[in-house]
Amino acid sequence: MNHFSKTVMITGGAGFIGSHVVRLFVNKYPSYLIVNADALTYAGNLENLKDIEHAPNYRFEKSDITNEKDIADLFSQYSFDAVIHLAAESHVDRSIIDPLAFVKTNVMGTAVLLNACRKFWKKDITNKLFYHVSTDEVYGSLGEEGFFTEETAYDPRSPYSASKAASDHFVMAYYHTYDLPVVISNCSNNYGSHHFPEKLIPLMINNIINNKPLPVYGKGENVRDWLWVEDHARAIDVIFHQGKTGEKYNIGGFNEWKNIDLVHLMCEIMDKKLNRSPGISAALITYVKDRAGHDLRYAIDAGKLTKELGWKPSLQFEEGLEKTIDWYLQNHNWVKHVTSGDYQNYYTEQYAKR
Ligand code: NAD
Ligand code: DAU
Repeated sequence: MNHFSKTVMITGGAGFIGSHVVRLFVNKYPSYLIVNADALTYAGNLENLKDIEHAPNYRFEKSDITNEKDIADLFSQYSFDAVIHLAAESHVDRSIIDPLAFVKTNVMGTAVLLNACRKFWKKDITNKLFYHVSTDEVYGSLGEEGFFTEETAYDPRSPYSASKAASDHFVMAYYHTYDLPVVISNCSNNYGSHHFPEKLIPLMINNIINNKPLPVYGKGENVRDWLWVEDHARAIDVIFHQGKTGEKYNIGGFNEWKNIDLVHLMCEIMDKKLNRSPGISAALITYVKDRAGHDLRYAIDAGKLTKELGWKPSLQFEEGLEKTIDWYLQNHNWVKHVTSGDYQNYYTEQYAKR
């Protein structure tokens, strides 16, 4: 027994979104003990949590969600009341290179966690919750019209989205079969600070700073719905506390952008910030071979979350993008650390052949 009112395991808390969720919960709920369980893969970085690492209600545990013993030991040690599960392999391009790594972490890892909850919560299930953080990519690809709702049929098209869809199905299977209290949210593309520079926005910012080509896949006409990462963390907080067990909630930015328009906007903002003449950064744009099976458009209808739980995004995109760019300009060392070593090999393999 500890003196905290709730003990919450957050998996993947050293990653991009996870670190924002951990920070929000540690600061907002001093009566909760927050245990960040993360294997620290290439995407996990404890520098992301420097500001709260000594907080009295925070612990870090280096553990792998695919390792049943690691997870059982943590459940025995902490007697968790809830799990917020974010740990995953998260990059679509990497899933095309190595799909089985995604099956292992995203499917097997989620099943291991669900099974630990089933076993450890068997005696007393009151006030327990398994919160699964998922993606809008499980719904597949939209044409020019329409939105994903919670009723849209699953139609994943990349190894990443297939692995996330499978993990969502496991979560619902444990709800129906074992009455495990679960909730799932499916979110659109996030952006903000601490985003690993393999993803579109931070990769483009980093390349603009370094005067490197800006690799736009295909014709750049694919559309994504961008959400400020701190608004995603706020949505997770709201759903964690007020969401209905067994339900799914879509989270989105109400903010669709064609990739090429977004890259042009970043170039304009950065020309100003870097005191470059207008058009200098945009001259770096290079159209490259398209992503295999590239989903054309994602767009979320987040109406259920807004109507039922009162959440909506807090930040206008242009303001959030500028804040994000400023963060990268002020945090060279963070970028240097995460892009040293293995990232260089990935970048060469991913872009040299395009
Ligand atoms: P990320 O790649 O930045 O971070 C993933 C974290 O998981 C890292 O800290 C990594 O070390 C950890 N991890 C990986 N394998 C692990 C394992 N076997 N055991 C323990 N920890 C492990 O990912 P992200 O972008 O922050 O995404 C977090 C979650 O949100 C994922 O589940 C992703 O599918 C989902 N999601 C992401 C977005 C997005 O735009 N980034 C949008 C919707 C949903
Ligand atoms: O929709 C939610 C998903 O968003 C999350 O589940 C994923 O974890 C997250 O990685 C993200 O997936 P995307 O594939 O949409 O994000 P990414 O940043 O990789 O790519 C965004 C768009 O930009 C996509 O259409 C591909 C394109 N792109 C990407 C890169 C890295 C480029 O044109 N060039 C690039 O170099």
